[in-house]
Amino acid sequence: MTRQTPPGGLPARLLQASAALWFIIAAAFQLLFAFYIAALYGTGTLRGDSAVWNLIMRNGHIEGDPAGNAAMMAHVLLACLITIGGLAQLTPQIRNRFPAFHRWNGRFYLTLAVIISLAGLFLTWTRPAASGLSNDISISLNGVLILIFAAFTVRHAMARRIDIHRRWATRLFLAVSGVWFLRIMISGWIMLHQSPLWLGDRLDGPAGVFFGFASFLLPLAVYELYLRAGDGHKAGAKLAMAALITALAGLTAFGGFAAALIMWLPHV
Ligand code: HEM
Repeated sequence: MTRQTPPGGLPARLLQASAALWFIIAAAFQLLFAFYIAALYGTGTLRGDSAVWNLIMRNGHIEGDPAGNAAMMAHVLLACLITIGGLAQLTPQIRNRFPAFHRWNGRFYLTLAVIISLAGLFLTWTRPAASGLSNDISISLNGVLILIFAAFTVRHAMARRIDIHRRWATRLFLAVSGVWFLRIMISGWIMLHQSPLWLGDRLDGPAGVFFGFASFLLPLAVYELYLRAGDGHKAGAKLAMAALITALAGLTAFGGFAAALIMWLPHV
């Protein structure tokens, strides 16, 4: 969530600083998520230990389903790479200093986004459901948005409309981060209530359904507000947005910390 040239003044600088703060916190916990994937599924795969796939997931490895198991392995192992690739892509220092890397990493990222989403859609609708129908619908919508945003990102990059390209790339990053947002939202909720209140066994309780959709729609909505505040000339809007993003950075830290304790660190 970074913009390059704030159009002047302290409010614009505060807005950009709040986005940078959010990104640094998010990046730290996304790296932890990638580390968890590598440590649990990556090392399990190297050891040839199929049991790791059913440690967290109900249907990670299913005997007699080689195609589904292969799709699952590709989905999860590539998820580790896309998480790291996305952070490298959005870090301004890397983007500005290594433009050739940015271009190749961008192609790699887009390819992974398409493969992971298609594999995810395949897994969601062909395997015995691990979560409820509403979660299947929300994550599928997330997957379809990833495909659409990827197409817009490529289209504007090819047309050299760099500012618009960057905005679609950030939307793509936020949509790809939907599964990560879901995990930090759920974990933060559990830590706050000291119980999985209203989440439901299969994420089909009221809170589970809410987080299923909010995990990607909420960050996307906040990003649109951020763009409007940044593009406009109202100092008040920029300051209000900077305050909102700073508060969200705090919530992200809380949710990331909770996910680390509840979901990730116990399994690495
Ligand atoms: C693009 C970003 C994505 C990442 C980084 C990602 C990551 C992961 C990870 C790490 C797992 C293993 C579960 C765990 O240990 O937490 C997983 C499972 C799964 N993912 Fe994704 N995923 C992404 C997108 C999607 C999409 C778009 C869909 C659906 C359209 C999807 C569907 C699934 C399904 C069905 C499972 C198995 C869940 C289970 O059986 O419990 N994923 N994903």
